[in-house]
Amino acid sequence: MPAALSTGGATIAQRVIDWQRSAGRHSLPWQQSRDPYRVWLSEIMLQQTQVATVLGYYERFLARFPDVRGLAAASLDEVLALWSGLGYYSRARNLHRCATVVVEVHGGEFPRHAAQLAELPGIGQSTAAAIAAFCFGEHVAILDGNVKRVLSRCLGFDGDLAQAAQQRVLWDAATRLLPPAGVYDNGAATGIAAYTQGLMDLGAGICSQRAPDCAACPLRADCVAAELGEPERFPLKTRRLKRSRRSSHWLSLVWRGRMWLVQRPPQGIWASLWSLSEFEDAAALDRVGAGWPGDSRALPPFKHVLTHLDWQLHPVQHLLPDALTEPELVRITGQLPDAARGRWFAHDEVASLGLPAALRKILPALQGQ
Ligand code: ADE
Repeated sequence: MPAALSTGGATIAQRVIDWQRSAGRHSLPWQQSRDPYRVWLSEIMLQQTQVATVLGYYERFLARFPDVRGLAAASLDEVLALWSGLGYYSRARNLHRCATVVVEVHGGEFPRHAAQLAELPGIGQSTAAAIAAFCFGEHVAILDGNVKRVLSRCLGFDGDLAQAAQQRVLWDAATRLLPPAGVYDNGAATGIAAYTQGLMDLGAGICSQRAPDCAACPLRADCVAAELGEPERFPLKTRRLKRSRRSSHWLSLVWRGRMWLVQRPPQGIWASLWSLSEFEDAAALDRVGAGWPGDSRALPPFKHVLTHLDWQLHPVQHLLPDALTEPELVRITGQLPDAARGRWFAHDEVASLGLPAALRKILPALQGQ
């Protein structure tokens, strides 16, 4: 174990807390409440998503679902629609499942301890600890991506975090660094809440991945990585994320002002969202569409960037004649590869569905606006 991992916790914790109280963030909407429903919602939205993006979604979500019972009673489609554009949609599906479990198993009250919270769908160990610390003052360590960076730099920890054993070493260190219960508490904001928020604030602002502002950091004097003069070297990067590329053709079928949309399968990219029929290439689309009545036009292709994937999308719109009869229409949609999961929507219904951001982006062009 690197010598720095045995650093005593008191001074580091105190510096983080003092800094958070004087220079950290205090006016974020989820900081104004200790209601676990609100804190949980914010923590899930903030995973992999910037604060600035989350703010609007958070307000809209709470306006529609002010409490866990309302969320549990909603349809998954409505939850996905409110989530649309925020990305990482498994978060929305888990959110809905979690609300159901809180209502059905826990009588509508979130459990008060991180260990129980971590049993709920979509709540990992770090998120569980954040909720328990913010809402119930439990002294438990968080270790999300930002905090891994702050702590591995501060401690000079150069273990390979792709290995579970090394993750455990850092979790143990994070636990040892926690402020002692009761010592730094001051009225409204308990020490553990300020400490937890302080680590998040340091990771989001000062201790950034590429350009850490060590001069402004309250842990400058404790920080092994800053002392070595190469804070960006930590945490150790081993496995590089391998990005892949894909190209698909998207068919937007329109009839009498309605759009044909297909609900994607419950697993995989954009699971359960409503999207366009998808084809491997232009030839596959032509094979299905050959001989259809009406007019086709290609929209400009565009690239959509996902975590592991650069996806080149080629939208093609096909307008079927209004005069087409119902049996002809059924014959045509029946030829689509994902016909069983498709249905027609009126144009003004489409915007309120759970749609992938890539589709929402081209919706005005598809709807002739
Ligand atoms: N990122 C994750 N949790 C957060 C929080 N509570 N405040 C700001 N950013 C966060």
